Amino acid sequence: MKKKIDVPIEESIRQKQIMDKLSVYIKGKKLKYHLSTFGCQMNAHDSEKLKGILEEIGYEATDQESDADFVIYNTCCVRENAELKVYGRLGSLKHNKKNNPNMLIALCGCMMQQDAVISKIKQTYRHVDILFGTHNLYKLAELIQTRLDTGKMVIDIWDNHKEIVEDLPSIRKFDFKASVNIMFGCNNFCTYCIVPYVRGRERSRKPEDILKEIQELVADGVVEITLLGQNVNSYGKSLDKPMSFAALIQAIEKIEGLKRIRFMTSHPKDLSDELIDVIRTSKKLSDHIHLPFQSGSTRLLQKMNRRYTKEQYLELVRKIKEANPNVALTTDIIVGFPGETEEDFEETLDVVRQVMFDNAFTFIYSKRTGTPAATMEGQVPEEVTKERFNRLCDLMNEVAAKRSGLKVGQVEDVLVEQVNRQDDSLVTGRISSNHIVHLKGTKVLIGKIVPVTIVENKTYYLLGESIQQA
Ligand code: 5AD
Ligand code: SF4
Repeated sequence: MKKKIDVPIEESIRQKQIMDKLSVYIKGKKLKYHLSTFGCQMNAHDSEKLKGILEEIGYEATDQESDADFVIYNTCCVRENAELKVYGRLGSLKHNKKNNPNMLIALCGCMMQQDAVISKIKQTYRHVDILFGTHNLYKLAELIQTRLDTGKMVIDIWDNHKEIVEDLPSIRKFDFKASVNIMFGCNNFCTYCIVPYVRGRERSRKPEDILKEIQELVADGVVEITLLGQNVNSYGKSLDKPMSFAALIQAIEKIEGLKRIRFMTSHPKDLSDELIDVIRTSKKLSDHIHLPFQSGSTRLLQKMNRRYTKEQYLELVRKIKEANPNVALTTDIIVGFPGETEEDFEETLDVVRQVMFDNAFTFIYSKRTGTPAATMEGQVPEEVTKERFNRLCDLMNEVAAKRSGLKVGQVEDVLVEQVNRQDDSLVTGRISSNHIVHLKGTKVLIGKIVPVTIVENKTYYLLGESIQQA
């Protein structure tokens, strides 16, 4: 007689069963984990899911890597520096493992999606136990189980994945704010960027799944959410029933109890007039838009495959500022892209001066093997790039200080995040524009929205005084 096997239909249920099984094995052993996250907000959010799985299994978090029985690095490969850090730290883990032979080491995230990295780890870092990529992090429990069963290095890297696994456990850093993925992957292939190769093609989550997740978060006390995607402006195009990003925001806005909505990252070429109308009318969208421009030179933008010109970017900024005069704009800028001349760089400085960004992430171009820019002619010498980079940082500091100075005297709502680390008579939070504000207060204010008058500009943060309410 054939044995009847009960195969769970949903992957998340199957993983839950493996977590339950492992938790029986781990129970009472008091095992600890330490997770390090490299890179962007997407990775930070993925790490919340990894933590959720590890804690469901029964591991406890520790701040000390040297105390951990399970060490996991969620890696980034956008720039070379992030990769070098991982290799450096892996080297020293060898020593930790000698002291604690039962310790497990897992690596995941964007670096793992590159064949050359996997070969290097297989050859040089034999003490690593588990390698997995960006498409299958929901399988962490199963990979641990396989490692324990076989005693061998487990490697599970997928090229792409269409199915999006919902409903996995997750540990949030804050009780009152959360990030929510609305899409994965990227179709843009900017010529310097490795992301489309390691995160795969664009896939949007169904609006009903996103709304359900946010409703549950709000019921759990969350008042602010950040919608995450590599290019949120093209949300919904790949759905069976296409839906625009603007329409998604409008649906989310209706959720009662949700106070603030943020999103990142926007690609200028896809930011629609429909979204600008939502920016104009929304009561919940924050006064902050992150809009990477990368370079002010139209010639370089074309070589970067960004598909907008300097003028189109400036026009878009004009429309956004007209729709919301309080908007704070932040951006990403790359210095030293192949072929960048002094004139090209001057165009970048010109955009910074014209737009008056509130903040910018400034990057030195990093050559990524496999991307078209890596083989372009005219790679810029390091000393030239560094000198330009310093000039850009000086200008950005000046511009950011001017912008934050404009907040002095304004009344703003601070969502309080934590007690100030340097001075425990203060608490720290963010206002709608994402500026950091310190104000007098105690931990009872954490998670509350407190109206304040901004009284001083300290460039990297503002001081606020709480407005006594009648
Ligand atoms: N070199 C430098 N910066 C890069 N970025 C992406 N790829 C590279 C690279 N090869 C930057 C872009 C992007 C941000 C997330 O990282 O500015 O917007
Ligand atoms: Fe990279 Fe460009 Fe996609 Fe952003 S839009 S992830 S920079 S390819």
